Amino acid sequence: MPLHALARAGLAVTLLFGLLGTAHALTLKSDAFESHRRPAVPFDHDAHNERAKIEDCLICHHGGENGVIDPEVGSEGTPCSECHEVKASGRTPLMRAYHKQCIECHRDLNKGPTTCGG
Ligand code: HEC
Ligand code: HEC
Ligand code: HEC
Repeated sequence: MPLHALARAGLAVTLLFGLLGTAHALTLKSDAFESHRRPAVPFDHDAHNERAKIEDCLICHHGGENGVIDPEVGSEGTPCSECHEVKASGRTPLMRAYHKQCIECHRDLNKGPTTCGG
């Protein structure tokens, strides 16, 4: 590949990551909760997904509306609280959304923490 094409490819990759946003060490502390019963969970986003070998963002960032999940549509960068309310009868409330997504996969794979302390 000629040098300028390589440089362009490199730029495209940089732009792509810039746009999609690499999320680094996050703390799962949504402002939607008035108070927290437990210390917020540190979540080293990119390192976690690399170690867990999760490449498909939609595994966690699904879309959906009107009470129906849409596994084909992504919601990367949108906080879970945009769609999951703290009190949501008949739907998945915010705390359960976090818990269920994280813990269910850890249980299924028998890897990663499955308790509050963990
Ligand atoms: C294991 C689950 C999981 C996977 C896989 C995942 N994310 Fe996330 N991501 C999260 C959670 C949880 C948050 C925090 C959401 C919140 O604040 O409610 C988040 C937040 C983000 C944010 C916002 C960061 C910030 O600083 O607020 C971006 C951008 C993002 N993810 C992009 C991606 C992209 C792109 C991928 C795929 C390469 C991806 N995520 C894969 C769980 C995941
Ligand atoms: C664009 C809207 C939207 C966003 C953003 C979103 N969800 Fe959802 N989610 C839905 C809809 C719609 C449903 C189905 C109705 C329900 O259960 O509330 C759902 C269902 C769920 C469920 C129950 C079904 C299942 O797969 O077990 C979990 C758990 C969940 N979401 C976790 C999360 C987490 C964690 C985040 C943030 C990383 C998130 N959601 C972000 C729309 C969204
Ligand atoms: C689709 C599966 C999956 C989901 C969803 C998932 N994890 Fe994990 N997680 C893993 C795997 C696999 C490991 C073990 C990685 C390894 O081998 O080190 C892990 C490990 C961890 C660890 C141990 C330290 C580390 O980073 O390896 C923490 C903490 C963790 N996960 C937090 C979370 C949180 C918080 C969420 C929800 C926002 C989450 N995980 C969602 C698969 C998942």
